[in-house]
Formats: sequence, C-alpha cells, structure tokens
Amino acid sequence: MCGIVGYVGDSDAVPFLLEGLGRLEYRGYDSAGAAVLNHGKIEIRKAVGHVSSLVEEIKSHPVSGTSGISHTRWATHGGVTLENAHPHRDASGKLALVHNGVVENHKDLRTELESRGHVFASQTDTEVISRLIGEAFDGHGDKSRDGLVEAAREALQQVRGTYAIGVLHEDLGDFLLAARRGSPLALGLGDGGQFLASDPAAIAGWASNFVYLNEGEIAWLDGKKFEVAGIDGSAPAPVVVRSMEKAAKAGTKGKFEHFMQKEIHEQPESLREAMRGRLIADQGTACFHGIERSPEELRQWETLIFTGCGTSFNAALAGEYIIEFLSRVPVECEIASEFRYRNSPLEMGTAVFALSQSGETADTLAAMREIKRRGAPTFGICNNPFSTISRESDGGIDLRAGQEVGVAATKSFTSQVLVLTMLGLMLGRMRDLRHTEGKKILSALEKLPDLVAETLEVDEVVRRIAKKYAASESFLFLGRQANFPVALEGALKLKEISYISTCAHPSAELKHGVIALVNESTPSIFIAPRDELFEKNLSNIEEVKARNGPVIAVGTQGDDVLADLCDDVVLVPACEDFLTPILTVLPLQLLAYHIGVELGCDVDKPRNLAKSVTVE
Ligand code: AGP
Repeated sequence: MCGIVGYVGDSDAVPFLLEGLGRLEYRGYDSAGAAVLNHGKIEIRKAVGHVSSLVEEIKSHPVSGTSGISHTRWATHGGVTLENAHPHRDASGKLALVHNGVVENHKDLRTELESRGHVFASQTDTEVISRLIGEAFDGHGDKSRDGLVEAAREALQQVRGTYAIGVLHEDLGDFLLAARRGSPLALGLGDGGQFLASDPAAIAGWASNFVYLNEGEIAWLDGKKFEVAGIDGSAPAPVVVRSMEKAAKAGTKGKFEHFMQKEIHEQPESLREAMRGRLIADQGTACFHGIERSPEELRQWETLIFTGCGTSFNAALAGEYIIEFLSRVPVECEIASEFRYRNSPLEMGTAVFALSQSGETADTLAAMREIKRRGAPTFGICNNPFSTISRESDGGIDLRAGQEVGVAATKSFTSQVLVLTMLGLMLGRMRDLRHTEGKKILSALEKLPDLVAETLEVDEVVRRIAKKYAASESFLFLGRQANFPVALEGALKLKEISYISTCAHPSAELKHGVIALVNESTPSIFIAPRDELFEKNLSNIEEVKARNGPVIAVGTQGDDVLADLCDDVVLVPACEDFLTPILTVLPLQLLAYHIGVELGCDVDKPRNLAKSVTVE
C-alpha cells in the first residue's frame, strides 16, 4: 500500500510526480504529498484525499524544481490528516522522506528519539525513519552524498518491519536515495533524468529501462547515474536492467465510465490472452512455459497448496474443485495471512502456488517465502510477471489479464480460475484423463470467451435488478461446489463496492444457521446453474421462499423453473459444469458495479481500500 514516485534530472519534477502518483492511486488514496528541491530549499505540498486534491493544492501554491519525491498514502499508523501525509521531514527540516511499509518497532524508536529531544510532527511510524536518518547524517562529519548513504544504512539497521523509501536532502542538490525491505521499489532510467517508483507502470513512457531493487538494497541516483549496494554493506545482487516496454502500461477508461466497468467487459479478451499458446490441440492438454518441469517431476506432485488473499483466495477455492475434478490431485487452499503463521505439515511431493493479481500482497509473499524456506517448490500465479512473487518463486503462470486498475478485482478472478482449469487439464492428462476427454475440455475452453461475451449481454437486466435491490441493507450469497467460491466472490464484490453487508455460504449451510437471517427485505442470491446439484439448490431456494425471502437466481439459459420460483433471474449460457464459475461470476460483478453506481459510491476507489496490500 502507498505509492512512491521520485524524479531527478533536467526537467521540472512536478509533472512527473503528479502524473506518476495518479497512476499509483491503486496503492492508496487517503492523502498525497510531494517534496521538491526548489533553489536549494525543500518545499512540501500535501493534501488530504485523492491525488487530484494535491494537484489542486499545487495549482494554488505552485512549486517546481529538478528533483523531488512524492507519495500517495493508505493510512496504517496515524489518521488521515495533513500532518500524517508524506513526505516527512527530519529534525533539521532539510531532509524529506516518503515511505511504503510498516515500521514494527516504531514505538520504541519514537520513545528513544523523543528522549533525545525530537518533537514529532505526525503520528506516523514513518517519521521515525526520517528523523533517524537525519540524526545520523547530522551527527556525521561527512556531509556529502556518501555521508547520507552511510547515515541511511546506520538508521535502517535499527528499523524492524517493511519499507520502501525515497529521500531528498536540500544540502545535496539533485540527488535521491532509496532503499527497500519488504515493499517494492524500482529505479527508472531515462535520458533526461532518473526515477523512483513503487511500480514501473507509474513511469512508463518517461523511463526507457528500469531496475527492481532487491530485498535489503539501498540505491542512490542523480539525473544520470545510479548505484546499488546492500543496506548492511554486503555486495548487491547483479543489477538486472529491464526494458520499460515490457512493463504494464497505465490504462485509460476508454468509452467506459469506470475502470471496473471496463475491466468487466474486457473479460472475453483477457481470457483469450490467458489461453493464447497454452492449449495443445492434438494432445488435448495445456502447457505453461513458466512451469517447465518434466512429466516425471509433474507426476510427483501429490498435493497442491494454493494460497492467496481476498479474490485471489476465492479463485483458488474454485480451482480446488475444478482441479480435483479434472486431475484427482488433492488441493488445499490456505488464506495466506493464516498460512504464513501456521505450523502446517508440508509433505514431500507438495507444490505450492501463490495466487496474487498484483504479485505484491505482503501476506501472500510472506507465505510463499516461508514455504520456499522449507524447500517445497513454489509457483506464482500473478498478473505482473515482474512482481516480487513472480520473481521470487521457482516458476509460475502469467495471468496476462492486462492492467487491472479498479480496486475490485474482476478480470483477474476469471483469468485465475481459467489458468487453474488449464493446470487441472494438464495434470489430469498426465494421470487418468483420457485423450478424448482432454480434447473435449479443450474445445469447451476455446468457446469460453464467446460465452463470456454472450453472458455480459445481461448487463441491462442486472442494472434493473440492481436498481430494485440497491436499498437493501444486507444480502446473502449461496452456491454449491465450484459455485460456492463464486458466492464468496459475489459477496466480496458487493461489500467492497457498495459498503452493504453481505455473507456467503454453501447453499446447504442455510439450515445450519444462515436461514435465521432470511426475511422480506434481505435478498438471497443463489448461484444455481443447471449442474448435477441443481435440484439440491432448488430445495434451498424453496426454503428461503417459504420464509418470504426475496430470491435472485443466476441460472442457465432455458431454465423456466427458476423463473417461476424466484423473484428475479439472470441466465448465463450452458457450458461444462466445471466452467460455470467463469460465467456465473459475471452477473455478480455487474450487480456489485451497478449497485455501487446506484448508491453513488466511488466504485474504482472504494473507501478504506487499496488495490495492492503491501502491508501485513
Ligand atoms: C478484491 O476485489 C480485493 N480488492 C482484494 O480482496 C484482493 O483480491 C486482495 O487484496 C488480494 O490481492 P492480490 O490478488 O493482488 O494478491
């Protein structure tokens, strides 16, 4: 969470800082700020709210200079106030610092600093870092750029937790310092200047190449050159310079009103991309370049563990049902924040997959690192092949969904489920799945993007349903088998976009307690396609109707039983049972979107959330 952009070079830093921050708003948007070196003095501008508020602030109080750092915040320590917005200064006021991460020992460090006379200007954990670095620098005899690097090293050795930082000091001219432990940070290399960014997408179009800082590295740069070293003085890993062309470009909304809406409608294309070159027609199977293991090695995978958070976890859970059905390989799904601390047995023959749209989620990354430490093979399923999870795993699968800007994950969910389905096909074909069955599945997969496009035609129907139920105070989501994770996902979408209370359960759990919530004003949404458990779902719908609960059903085209029984029905095309989650989730994404719009919510930037959760 939180996004950092820095610039040092020949041009005015401010336009880069502001536009770059706008591209990083997916990382947080509580408040924003920038520090610019203006004729040898650091000037800071801050604003509470979105980056657009900072743009307005700078319009009213202009500032310019050829180096600067900036930050968009997702509050962890300290409320959403101007004082707590970054950048933060040191005691001398000459140093400014931006930070993404959490300082776990900030209380102890603050007490120590206060005992030495420091008077803090904010409630943030970040300010201890700016003060520690400033204090070390001022205490040194060496007031050169090297002196600041040494001071930062000294200070950072005292900091426990996670950080990506950018630092500017007014005595050192056009010069930036950066360091990273646990939070991502990249250096952007251009002709007229150099950059710092939490994500290379923030500086796409300006820098030609970029370098990811590795864990525990410190870097310093001016407009022309940069150097990298270990914070602890160790030699850095070899510097890998990557071409900017391959970094995700920042998207635009095109003809759509919101990114979420655009991303929902992009799914036929994102799913086509996820399959491109990965289906082997004559063998009736799938392959992934990122999982280059011999068939013998793949056959040795006796158990798969999937870990992730939020939507990625829901996709993993859908994958569990599908992969076990297709390949008979046992799958366990683990919520990353729990998994990382659990003393779970890890049998030989277990492969672990970390699912993450961003590839930066702190809990998922930590769970993967713990598993890697224990020697099991780890794979990332991410939408950014340059992300930390992608880089640190032993291999993986690129979702190829294209940049997802809306905080609510939509197209990444369907791409994750599709990729897991292809993984199930691949593993199944190495075990008991016959050639003819494989080919049948393959041809069903090839038809999927068109079925998704057809399903999205329910948009208007769903918009009307959204209008009808938008005032409801809570919703229940119910489904069975691989459509139970779809219920979880529908409930998550609705609560995060519209702030309506939702819960999701397997349909049969109704009578074990959930049914107590049923009343005339609480809609139940049943995901009830014509699969082998359709009749069972029908009985559950009857149970809700018997208690006067309104029911909205997501069913299969041609179904008139649902139409007779339910208050509202949305129908999706018929397909193989194991592919239904990719279709049935679409009306739920649309429902969340339209209810959010109906209620006047900021659907792309819901309150209190951030797209990329890089703190624990
Ligand atoms: C989904 O709509 C949410 N914004 C959130 O649950 C998200 O899926 C979760 O934070 C995990 O993110 P990741 O996929 O980038 O790891």
